[in-house]
Amino acid sequence: MTVTVLFVCLGNICRSPMAESIFQKMVDDAGLSAKINVDSAGTGAWHVGERPHPGTRRVLQQHGIRSNGRARMVRAADMTDPASYIIAMAIDNMDELLHRFGDHPRLFRLLDFALEAKVRDVPDPYYENNFEYVFELVSDGCRGLLTTIRRNEGL
Ligand code: 4NP
Repeated sequence: MTVTVLFVCLGNICRSPMAESIFQKMVDDAGLSAKINVDSAGTGAWHVGERPHPGTRRVLQQHGIRSNGRARMVRAADMTDPASYIIAMAIDNMDELLHRFGDHPRLFRLLDFALEAKVRDVPDPYYENNFEYVFELVSDGCRGLLTTIRRNEGL
């Protein structure tokens, strides 16, 4: 059985594609790519079809991580698989998902899994241009998330 992990932010060009790439690398390194599918989406439509933001691409490249994919919106089908993990980058993304699709048994905020971070919402680098800081926060959350999923799923 495979598990899907869907990271969700607003535009799907900065934070959630960064999380997708970081988490995919961790999954690959753990030899779990056949067991864990990784994806990302946005709640907004402005950037649908675009590649990740240059700031996201740059920071990933600096850390030797490949970026891929094009922006898309979250759809109802993403939210109907109870076995998926839906990982919001910040509370406003979570609220938007709840408002639009109702509750999901595995809807979480990424930084609730973080071990080091002092904040619980990933700030939006689209406005703050703090891509390196966001990279560190997202990496922290992804490490904890993978540990949790491995434990939950017996992987
Ligand atoms: P993201 O960043 O949600 O991390 O992808 C944003 C990208 C675009 C916009 C807002 C946030 N925007 O308003 O266009």
